[in-house]
Amino acid sequence: MNLDFKLLKWQQIVFKDQSRFKVIAAGRRCGKSRLSAVTLLIEGLNCPEGSSVMYVAPTLGQARTIMWDLLMDLGKPVIKSAHINNLEITLVNGKKILIRGADNQDSLRGVSLSYLVMDEVAFIKSEIWERVLRAALSDKKGRAMFISTPSGRNHFYEWFQLGQSGEDADWKSWHFTTADNETIDPKEIEAAKRTLSSFAFGQEYLSSFNNAGAGLFKEEWIKFGDEPDIGSWYIAVDLAGFEDVAKSANATKKRLDQSAIAVVKVTDDGTWFVDKIEAGRWDIQTTALNILKNIREYEPLAVGIERGALKNAVLPYLSDLMRKNNCYAHILDLTHGNKKKVDRIVWALQGRFEHGRVILNAEEDFEEFVDQLLMFPTAQVHDDLPDALSYIDQLAVTSYSIDNDEDDWQALDVVSGY
Ligand SMILES: Nc1ncnc2c1ncn2[C@@H]1O[C@H](COP(=O)(O)OP(=O)(O)O)[C@@H](O)[C@H]1O
Ligand SMILES: [Mg+2]
Repeated sequence: MNLDFKLLKWQQIVFKDQSRFKVIAAGRRCGKSRLSAVTLLIEGLNCPEGSSVMYVAPTLGQARTIMWDLLMDLGKPVIKSAHINNLEITLVNGKKILIRGADNQDSLRGVSLSYLVMDEVAFIKSEIWERVLRAALSDKKGRAMFISTPSGRNHFYEWFQLGQSGEDADWKSWHFTTADNETIDPKEIEAAKRTLSSFAFGQEYLSSFNNAGAGLFKEEWIKFGDEPDIGSWYIAVDLAGFEDVAKSANATKKRLDQSAIAVVKVTDDGTWFVDKIEAGRWDIQTTALNILKNIREYEPLAVGIERGALKNAVLPYLSDLMRKNNCYAHILDLTHGNKKKVDRIVWALQGRFEHGRVILNAEEDFEEFVDQLLMFPTAQVHDDLPDALSYIDQLAVTSYSIDNDEDDWQALDVVSGY
């Protein structure tokens, strides 16, 4: 047998790794499809009785153009027969490589797989994995490789993060750029850099996940500074919801919503000095305690808490703490004011940031806040911190309360979360 399975350095690193689920973010022309093909052939040759290996691309057309010739080419010595009309390849050991498109869900069902490759998986709906393919791996304890150029911070980013976090021993992830393919002339990459927008180059060649923000907030608007002498303190509290927990009952652990406490000094000319935004997954008591600590430290003119079931849950604890510590604050309802969250955050923050009316405390770490702000609004990127800050808008300007009976906000299930 003369198998040309020479692998590039990065491909070897991934190939040799024993993790059950591998996630690879890699640039265009990095060698993703080539690694997929080699993996499919080797896994097919080692495939246990009664199962197959499968390759899935976003569409059947793509699967055919990317994989068919490549497999025929690389696998010639080990292919017994191949049927282009059903895109199935039978290897010399009688095992099959199935080539499929995620655009035809029915074609993915009813098979037992020992190995699955999902190519350009950032462009395949996550439910194809979660609802359809994961089950196909269960009876043979099959393994899988998820490989793609990034497409913003969607499910692929989440899986990538899971692999980075080490939280789940089954998952491991890697990041490579087009330059990691030694066979590509660096001049070609330089040429692409000159002609593509920095967004496109970052995503396609550097396989960066940091390119999805709609640009509603710009990096150059972020200013740091010192606390102004004169002004009044306000505290806005955004309590974490728990909807996400129920939704993420699958292999991937979504990062959970956080509760956030924004502490801001507002000057006479309306500039906000953001002293800090505290955030965390706190239980009710801890939340109440954290609010109290800030009340004691800052003596704010008002504390706003987002109206709803969570506020109702926290308030008795907070009242109790205020009484015991003889430390009181004016607690106001914060409301969504009939605005969608995106609009609310943009209305409250965009103009202020753009005109330099928001100063972040130079002595605090705002990395996560800035990240959330620049990525806003992007599905799968949290916005708890900008959300909490945006509520200061309601505290610092209104002396009346907005009456919004038509609030489209849904009550959260407090009990399930704690
Ligand atoms: N192990 C390898 N040996 C030789 N050439 C390779 C290897 N891996 C990738 N290449 C070449 O690099 C180019 C891009 O590979 P491909 O797998 O299509 O990348 P991607 O799927 O990441 O866009 C192709 O011309 C391919 O032949
Ligand atoms: Mg490819």
